[in-house]
Amino acid sequence: MWMKLKPLFPYMRRYWRGYLVGMLCTVVANAVRVQIPRIIGAAGHDMLKAGVSWEKIYHYAGKLIAVAIVYSILLYLMRWILIGISRDIEFDLRNDLFRHLEKQSASYYQEHRTGDIMARMTNDLSAVRMLLGPAIMYTANTVVFSAAALYYLLGISPLLTLAALAPMPLVSILIQYMGRKIHERFERIQAMFSDISAQAQENFSGARLVRAFAQEEAQIGAFERSNREYIRRALRLVRLMGMLWPTLEFMLGLSMVISLLVGGHEVLSHRIGIGQFITFTIFMYMLMWPVIALGYVINLFERGTASVVRIQELLTAEPSIDDRGATVQEGTEIRGEVEFRDLRFAYPAETGEPVEILHGISLKIPAGTSLALVGPTGSGKSTLVSLIPRLFDAPPGSVLVDGRPIRAYPLDTLRGAVGLVPQETFLFSTTIRENIAFGADNAEMSDVLRAAEAAHIREEFEVFPRGFETMVGERGLTLSGGQKQRTALARAAMRDPRILILDDALASVDTYTEERILEELRRVMEGRTTILISHRISTVRNADRIAVLVRGRIAELGTHDELLALNGYYAGLFQKQLLEEELAVSG
Ligand SMILES: Nc1ncnc2c1ncn2[C@@H]1O[C@H](COP(=O)(O)OP(=O)(O)OP(=O)(O)O)[C@@H](O)[C@H]1O
Ligand SMILES: [Mg+2]
Repeated sequence: MWMKLKPLFPYMRRYWRGYLVGMLCTVVANAVRVQIPRIIGAAGHDMLKAGVSWEKIYHYAGKLIAVAIVYSILLYLMRWILIGISRDIEFDLRNDLFRHLEKQSASYYQEHRTGDIMARMTNDLSAVRMLLGPAIMYTANTVVFSAAALYYLLGISPLLTLAALAPMPLVSILIQYMGRKIHERFERIQAMFSDISAQAQENFSGARLVRAFAQEEAQIGAFERSNREYIRRALRLVRLMGMLWPTLEFMLGLSMVISLLVGGHEVLSHRIGIGQFITFTIFMYMLMWPVIALGYVINLFERGTASVVRIQELLTAEPSIDDRGATVQEGTEIRGEVEFRDLRFAYPAETGEPVEILHGISLKIPAGTSLALVGPTGSGKSTLVSLIPRLFDAPPGSVLVDGRPIRAYPLDTLRGAVGLVPQETFLFSTTIRENIAFGADNAEMSDVLRAAEAAHIREEFEVFPRGFETMVGERGLTLSGGQKQRTALARAAMRDPRILILDDALASVDTYTEERILEELRRVMEGRTTILISHRISTVRNADRIAVLVRGRIAELGTHDELLALNGYYAGLFQKQLLEEELAVSG
C-alpha cells in the first residue's frame, strides 16, 4: 500500500518542516494527554486511602483543567498545521494536473472523456487530500497515543495489558481484510462516478441536440440507470463499513470486559492498587476511540491510494506530441513554405489495424502562395491540414516547413507561425474581445478591431449593447454560426500567422460576405501562405492553385482554368454549382 503513495512523496517532501512541527505538536499533545488517566487514578487512590476533601477535589480538578487547556492548544496547532499542508499539496497537485493535461495532444482528449478527467481532478483529488490531511493526522495521533498508553499500561501490569489487548490481533486482521475490500469497492465507486460525470457533462454541452431530438426522457432514463448503479456500488461499501464499525466496537467491548475481570482479580489479590486499576481502565477506554477511528482512517487510506493511482494515470500519460525532436532554435523565423512528401497517415487506433487516411500525398506550397483544397466529404482534407501544426503527428520527414521536417521546430515556434481556423468553431465563455485576442500576447484593442475587420465582423459586434465586451459561449450570448466562424477567423488573423489555414471556415457565411472576407484576406495575407478548404467553387477559384483530394489522394492539381480543362471532379463541381446559381437567380 505504501508504494502506491510514492507519487505523493515529492509533494510531501516540500513541506517536511511543517510535518516536523506538526509531529512535534502531536507528540507533546499526547504526552500531556496521557496524564489525564494518571491524575484521575492518583485522585482515586488518594481519596480512597486518605478521605475526600474539597481541597483535594479542587487540586485534582485544577490539574485536569490545566492539562486540558495545554492539550487543546496543541491539538489545535496540530490540526492547523497538518490539515493546512494537505491543502497546500492539493493546490500543488491541482496545478500540476492542469499543466500536464494542458500539454496533452488533441488525440488524448479523443480517447478520454472530459467528465472522467473532471472527476479525477475533483473527487479523486479530494480523496487524496483526505489521505494527506486527516488520515495522516489521525494515524500519527493514534500511534503516538497508543505507544504512550502502552508504556503506562505495561508499567501498571504486563499481565493485565496482555490480557486486555488479546483481542487486538483479531482487530488488526479484520481491519486488513476489510481494508482490501473497501479499496476494491471504492475503486468501483469512483469509476462509476467518472461515468456519471461524463454522462452529465455531455448532456449539458449537448443540450441543444438532446432537446432537438426530444431525447430528454431517454437521457434521464439512462442517467438514472447509471446513478442507480453508482448508488448500488456505494451501498455495498456502506454495508461493509456498517459491519466494520460494530465489529470493532464489539471487540473493544470484549477488551473492556477482560480488563475488568482480570483487573478486578489483580486488585483482589493485591497485585495492583485501586488507583492503578482506575488509570488502567480509563486508558483502555481512551484507546477505544483511536482504534475505532482506525477503521475510518483505513477507509481514508484505501480511498486515497485508489485515487492516487487514478491521478497518477493522468500525470504519467506522456504527451504524445512534444519538443523531443526539436533541433531548431526557439523563435526561428518561418517563411511559410509547406511541403508534404509522400505523406501517409493513419489516426492512432486503440484497437485493430490503423486505417490509412492519406495515401502518399506529395505537394509543395511555396511561401506566400495560396492553395485551395476541395474534395468529397471524408476525403482527408481536415486531416491533411491538422498535420501542419502537429495536432496529430505525421511520420517523420513527411511534412516540411521551409524545407525542414516540422518536428525540428519547437512546438511553440511552429504553432506560433500557423493560424488554423478549425472546421468546428470553439469559443470560450468570455468576451468577444478575449476570444479574438486568445493566444496573442499583450494584444491591443486596435489589433482586435483590425482582426475583426479582416473577418468582416467588426460592425456586427459594434452594434451589440456591450460591443466587444459582450460575453459569449456558455455564460453568455449565443452567436450565429456565421458569427462564430468569423470570430474564429479574426482570432487566427490576430496572430498574424505566416501560414493561415481555413478549414471550411466560411461555410456558414453567405457567399456575398464570404467574397468580401476573401478579398480582405488576400490583402492581409499578401506574401503569406494560405490554405483554404471549401466545398464552394466561389471560395477557391481565385487561389493560386487548387488541389482536389479524393479518398486520401491528390486527384487533380492546378489553377481554376487548368482544372476546368481537365474535365474531372473540379469541372463537375463547377458545372453543378453554376447550375445551382443560375437556378437561384432565375428562381
Ligand atoms: N480524429 C480522428 N480519429 C480517427 N479518424 C478520423 C479522425 N478525424 C477524421 N477521421 C477520419 O478520417 C477520414 C477523413 O476525415 P477528414 O475530417 O480529414 O475529412 P474531410 O475531407 O475534412 O471531410 P469534410 O469535407 O467532411 O470536412 C474520415 O474517414 C474520418 O472518419
Ligand atoms: Mg473537414
